[in-house]
Amino acid sequence: MWHVGPSRAGQSLGPGFPQAAGAGFGASSANWSAPLYVGYGLPMHIRQERESDCSAIAEVTAQAFANVTHSDHTEPDIIKRLREAGDLLVSLVAIDGDHLLGHVAFSPIVINKQHCKWYGLGPVSVRPDRHGQGIGSALIRAGLAQLSSLEAGGCVVLGDPVYYRRFGFEQDDRLRYEGAPPEYFMRLTLNAQQVPSGSVAYAPAFTG
Ligand SMILES: CC(C)(COP(=O)(O)OP(=O)(O)OC[C@H]1O[C@@H](n2cnc3c(N)ncnc32)[C@H](O)[C@@H]1OP(=O)(O)O)[C@@H](O)C(=O)NCCC(=O)NCCS
Repeated sequence: MWHVGPSRAGQSLGPGFPQAAGAGFGASSANWSAPLYVGYGLPMHIRQERESDCSAIAEVTAQAFANVTHSDHTEPDIIKRLREAGDLLVSLVAIDGDHLLGHVAFSPIVINKQHCKWYGLGPVSVRPDRHGQGIGSALIRAGLAQLSSLEAGGCVVLGDPVYYRRFGFEQDDRLRYEGAPPEYFMRLTLNAQQVPSGSVAYAPAFTG
């Protein structure tokens, strides 16, 4: 199973979900970037998304999820809704020259309906012809580093443990995500002294 991104089980955060600090194109993190060399020594650059990246992000996301069995193929819409709601706290792109190779999004979650500076990873996408070259890993590591520098307590992900354990994610009984097998829902502690306990909900953009 390789289902990443929250389920669309009709959960809602309720009204008043605040805009994440630093979200949007003018974010404090907008100038952050890191030149990187990934698989086969190919040059790649990771930076915060720009307004001009939006259509390429949607295209790469649609391509990446096209053959993912457990996807309902709404990932490009989720990213768009996150952006419109100001909930794209971290939105990084991997660029090779003029080509967008991949994208990763991080958005705020609530735990027991409380905001707590914890975030959710996803969707993450890499152009299918560039899979397996370290691009997804580089995006995720860069995003987690940026989250940490923004003083995030931690991050959660719903996905394949085999993939996400390499970044330090692990299953934790204190954090529950309804409707997902527990082993597929994982957390990574960043700046938090203690892992909060409770039921996790993703941003409203994930439920439409
Ligand atoms: C998942 C994804 C982002 C990984 O990006 P990537 O650049 O191909 O990954 P990397 O090169 O950094 O890492 C490759 C590793 O990921 C593993 N991996 C890739 N897809 C996987 C999958 N569906 N299930 C489990 N592991 C997977 C590979 O086996 C490889 O493992 P290895 O290092 O032990 O050989 C990319 O495959 C993708 O876009 N998939 C489609 C969309 C998707 O499922 N996104 C995640 C959901 S939000």
